[in-house]
Amino acid sequence: MASCASLLLLLALLATSASTSLAGNFYQDVDITWGDGRAKILNNGQLLTLSLDKYSGSGFQSKDQYVYGKFDMQLKLVPGNSAGTVTTFYLSSQGAAHDEIDLEFLGNLSGDPYVLHTNVYSQGKGNREQQFYLWFDPTKDFHTYSILWNPRHIVIYVDGTSIREFRNRESVGVPYPKSQATRVYSSLWDAEDWATRGGLVKTDWSQAPFTAAFGNYNANGCVWPSGASSCSSGTSNSWMWEEFDATSLKKLRWVQKNYMIYNYCTDVKRFPQGLPPECFAS
Ligand SMILES: *[C@@H]1O[C@H](CO)[C@@H](O)[C@H](O)[C@H]1NC(C)=O
Repeated sequence: MASCASLLLLLALLATSASTSLAGNFYQDVDITWGDGRAKILNNGQLLTLSLDKYSGSGFQSKDQYVYGKFDMQLKLVPGNSAGTVTTFYLSSQGAAHDEIDLEFLGNLSGDPYVLHTNVYSQGKGNREQQFYLWFDPTKDFHTYSILWNPRHIVIYVDGTSIREFRNRESVGVPYPKSQATRVYSSLWDAEDWATRGGLVKTDWSQAPFTAAFGNYNANGCVWPSGASSCSSGTSNSWMWEEFDATSLKKLRWVQKNYMIYNYCTDVKRFPQGLPPECFAS
C-alpha cells in the first residue's frame, strides 16, 4: 500500500514537472535514430557525437514532443575540411503540412567560414531562408545554439545573441506553428550537391570520418500531448511570454548588419509578385 501511494505521488510530481526538464542527459532525453553505430553517447550521457563517412551519416531525436519551448544545444562542429558536411539542429513535426524551425551548419574548406542556414516552415510552407556567418570559429569550442518558440515569436540565438526573429503574423494571414507536436532533431549528413556553392566543392572523403559533438542539451518546453495544459499559464515558463527588449533588438540588428549573408525578405528577384507579408513590420 505504502509503495503504491508513493508511486502515485511520484507520478503526480512527474506530471506537474512535465513542462520543465533539467539540463540534459542524452541517455534520458534522446533516441539515436540512424547511423548504425556512428552516433555515440559518451561521458555518462553528457556528450553525444555524430559521425559521417562515405556510407552514412547519423542522427538522433528527442524522446519528447513539444508545442512551444526553449531548446538549447551546445555544438562543436566538424573541424578542418568540412566542405559538403551539414550538421543540423532543428524542430519538426510530421507530415506534408509540417512545421519546422531549422539550423543547418554548412561545412567549408579549411579556413573558409561555415554558413549557418536557417529556415522556418509553417504548415508545410518554407522558403524563408536566412543565412549567417558566425563571429567565431565554431569548430574550436562548444557554443550554444538556441531556439525559442512561443506564441509571439520564434527566435534563434547563438550564445545568447538573437540572430533571427520570426514573428507571429497570423493577423496578416501568415500561418504560425502552434498546434503540431514537434521533436528536436540533430544529424550529420553529406550534402555536397547543394551545400558547397551549388556543388562546386566536393566532400573530401579522405578526411572521413567527420565528427560533430553535442552537449548540454536543454529542453524547457510544453510536452505534448500530456503536458499541454501545464503550459497555458504559469510563471515558471518565463520563455513563454518572452518578447524582445531593447538590448535583444540591438543585438539582432548588429548580427543582421554584420553577419547576415542572405535574407529572403530582401530577395525581390525571387518574389516578383511581392515579398511575403511577414517581411513587413507590423
Ligand atoms: C565557404 O567559404 C566561401 C569563401 O569565403 C564563402 O563564399 C562561402 O559562403 C562559404 N560557405 C559555403 C557553404 O560555401
